[in-house]
Amino acid sequence: MAVGKMEGCGKATLKLEIGGAAPKEVELPVYCGTEGPSVVDVRGLYREAGVFTHDPGFFSTSSCASAITFIDGEEGILRHRGYDIQDLADNCTYLEVCYLLMYGELPNEKEYQEFAHKITYHTMVHEQINFLLRGFPRRAHPMAILVGSVASLSAFYHDSLDIFDEKQRDLASIRMLAKMPTLTAMAHKYSLGQPFVYPRNDLDYTSNFLHMMFATPCEEYKVSDVAARAMNKLLILHADHEQNASTSTVRLASSSQANPFACIGAGISCLWGPAHGGANEAVIDMLEEIGDVSNIPEFINRAKDKEDPFRLMGFGHRVYKNYDPRAAVLKLSCDEVLEEVGVTNSPKLQIAKELERIALEDEYFVERKLFPNVDFYSGIIYEALHIPVELYTGLFAMARTAGWVAQWREMISDPEQKIGRPRQIYTGEPRRDFVPMKKR
Ligand code: SDX
Repeated sequence: MAVGKMEGCGKATLKLEIGGAAPKEVELPVYCGTEGPSVVDVRGLYREAGVFTHDPGFFSTSSCASAITFIDGEEGILRHRGYDIQDLADNCTYLEVCYLLMYGELPNEKEYQEFAHKITYHTMVHEQINFLLRGFPRRAHPMAILVGSVASLSAFYHDSLDIFDEKQRDLASIRMLAKMPTLTAMAHKYSLGQPFVYPRNDLDYTSNFLHMMFATPCEEYKVSDVAARAMNKLLILHADHEQNASTSTVRLASSSQANPFACIGAGISCLWGPAHGGANEAVIDMLEEIGDVSNIPEFINRAKDKEDPFRLMGFGHRVYKNYDPRAAVLKLSCDEVLEEVGVTNSPKLQIAKELERIALEDEYFVERKLFPNVDFYSGIIYEALHIPVELYTGLFAMARTAGWVAQWREMISDPEQKIGRPRQIYTGEPRRDFVPMKKR
């Protein structure tokens, strides 16, 4: 199969026997991609047979053709443009991965320097945004500030809103990647009541972010190499993940031709939920609630109890029915980072490892193929880097901006894409006569 396109590779015949109607057969084309499951193209099904497919939660639905990320959930494989996540996490900078996701190839030295330079010189945000943030209460959740400030960028950057102008698309892409760290750090500083720290053009992407997070005007702040390396790996591991809920939200919002900042703002809103990107914050809250390894059995039982809404946060995944490869990398990094930053004893890490051990021996989790996901260990490292827990999902959004931007660009240039408009099965009242209020 040629990279970048799906090709017809067969057909599916659907036999319909509905109610008393005469049986009907509908032939549907099957397409194959480079790897992974083939797809049955049902776009003509309603026209041919007057029926819809029904797939709440999209367990068996492909929404698009994409060449950016490949996941094999059974084998626990994650690749970006053909490169294994482990190789990228061990050898790249986050900006290299951004370039790869957006343009399809790893950059050479010249391409990388040009890209990094463009990003660096767009890291400042419009000064008015400082006043926008001042409208929030100091205790506002950083995700509320990010949702608001990212969507508001469309009020400031009118020269990068036209999605049909390639130059404006490129400029919007660079601005999104460049300004997310600045806005995320501003949300943090605002919550502390500390002055915003401007980006610095002499620092690389992750060091610049950490400097904006932790520097103050009172003294020189030196970013630790350990922290910068750990943050770089965390950003890569969260950069993109196929058609997850927030990426699908960005694509659906973009399908109406909304401006890029509004679409990324929609993605941030979706990511916030504890079933998705909000899980990393929920994992730390859960580990704190467990408090001691002796309490683990009680929480395992609660997670299994259908009457109890409690779930083991950071466990389970719609696609991975094996260990999330990102969780494997993060689990290793926990030990490395904690040792390098001098944290010799992390009760949360001990509880997390024991919780994983017990869960993976428990029939309930084994039967349902529930393994740790990307959110299970990430918070342990964020905590060691002194990131406040309410900012964890904001860091996920900052990292995932690479994937959202890449998927948005791919979608805009896909000739097959139309406005997303799912249908439904109607289960409400049949037609009935109106009853004036006096007679109700
Ligand atoms: C992310 O899609 C992506 O790619 C997302 C992501 C990305 O990079 O974009 O990978 C990032 O969002 C990771 C997931 C973070 N969320 C959590 O850790 C929250 C806890 N996990 C779950 O809520 C759940 O596992 C989901 C939401 C992640 C997946 O849910 P599904 O695929 O809809 O599966 P399900 O809820 O139908 O669960 C199947 C069964 C159910 O039991 P039965 O009805 O079969 O008896 O497994 C149970 C669930 O009750 N189950 C859990 C569980 N997760 C699923 N039981 C206890 N604890 C859990 N964590």
